[in-house]
Amino acid sequence: MVHWTAEEKSAIQSVWKQVNVDQDGHEALTRLFIVYPWTQRYFSNFGNVSTAAAIAGNVKVQEHGRRVLGAIGETVSHLDNVKGTLHSLSEIHANKLYVDPENFRRFAEVLVIVLAAKLGTSFTPQVQHSVEKFFAVVVDGLSDGYYN
Ligand code: HEM
Repeated sequence: MVHWTAEEKSAIQSVWKQVNVDQDGHEALTRLFIVYPWTQRYFSNFGNVSTAAAIAGNVKVQEHGRRVLGAIGETVSHLDNVKGTLHSLSEIHANKLYVDPENFRRFAEVLVIVLAAKLGTSFTPQVQHSVEKFFAVVVDGLSDGYYN
């Protein structure tokens, strides 16, 4: 089981309280699709997601950003059981959506950038450490269903 210090837990919870799931989810998906264009192919049913302008008006991307950040938010409430909380989502991504788990890392990376830009100087190196550790645990949890 992952060990969290009190400082790490408190930093993760405090950062997550400042997350706007609609806006930040949308921004993170925008970055994902533009920085790593091959990720667009998983979302062929979303229409055009190839430019920031197209993504900005795409309601499906907005809804999806909310769902993805909602799922991450759920794990913030269950820091001592991230793997269990993500179990069924992991199986869906592995066995139904066939998403290469390497892309979870990419999503975590763009989300760190969105949060750093939003939080500015309060996103200290110590806070970044806690957030990066948390996202690594989320990525591991989501990847778990691929190997069972
Ligand atoms: C890293 C954090 C991620 C989380 C927490 C997450 C979470 C979710 C959730 C909650 C759903 C909805 C599942 C359902 O309807 O039952 C979903 C669907 C989906 N996810 Fe992820 N996801 C993540 C990353 C990714 C990445 C990186 C990709 C691809 C590059 C991806 C591809 C998809 C696709 C294609 C769907 C189905 C979309 C649709 O047709 O509505 N996910 N994800």
